[in-house]
Amino acid sequence: MKKIIVLMLMLAVMTNCMAQEVVEKLPKPKTEGGMPLMDALKKRSSSRSFSEKEIDRQMLSNLLWAAWGINRPDGKRTAPSSMNKQELSLYVVLKEGAYLYDAVNNSLIRVTEGDVREACGVQAFVGEAPLNVIMVADLKKLGAKAGDKAIASSWANSGYISQNIYLFCASESLATVVRASIDHEKLKAALKLNPDQEIILGQTVGYPK
Ligand SMILES: Cc1cc2nc3c(=O)[nH]c(=O)nc-3n(C[C@H](O)[C@H](O)[C@H](O)COP(=O)(O)O)c2cc1C
Repeated sequence: MKKIIVLMLMLAVMTNCMAQEVVEKLPKPKTEGGMPLMDALKKRSSSRSFSEKEIDRQMLSNLLWAAWGINRPDGKRTAPSSMNKQELSLYVVLKEGAYLYDAVNNSLIRVTEGDVREACGVQAFVGEAPLNVIMVADLKKLGAKAGDKAIASSWANSGYISQNIYLFCASESLATVVRASIDHEKLKAALKLNPDQEIILGQTVGYPK
């Protein structure tokens, strides 16, 4: 009898978890065209002034692919990672909720509903801009513990992703700024991160005001 009750409880928990996973397929990213690289480099800059205009799903898909998408059949990506550990995940924070970018399936996995943009940083514009991309390291994939020197490679890897976003934004005339000023505990709670996940950088994106 006890076993049946335990089994039923496990089933209920599993069903609940499965029912809660909401996945949104993104439009296929447009991976051709854009501004010539040297022109984008000339335009690359940080901006902290964003309009409220939302970023549509096609633009979001293109941006996420440019940032940390898969660009080869072997699963490697648009940014390098030390020993190809690919320990970074991108969390996408929009007005309507926060999502985890699944590059393999080109989709967004909902993490939370509602507006948690304000938790993405300590500067006022962060809560008003339409998009914040949060780069999060998985310490297990990295083979590191919190506070280890190994996390330095996640900082380097995040820098490449950030520059990809900068260049994409330059090419699309979007405004962006990378940010380290983050209240980690607050954002960890908002994104429901586990203890093995470490926030590295955030990047705010939107149309210029
Ligand atoms: C690792 C790193 C952390 C940064 N953190 C912040 C931040 O928390 N807030 C902010 O407004 N800008 C931040 N910046 C942006 C810099 O202030 C900006 O790159 C610098 O002023 C040079 O301007 P530019 O990007 O237009 O060349 C950061 C940049 C880097 C590389």
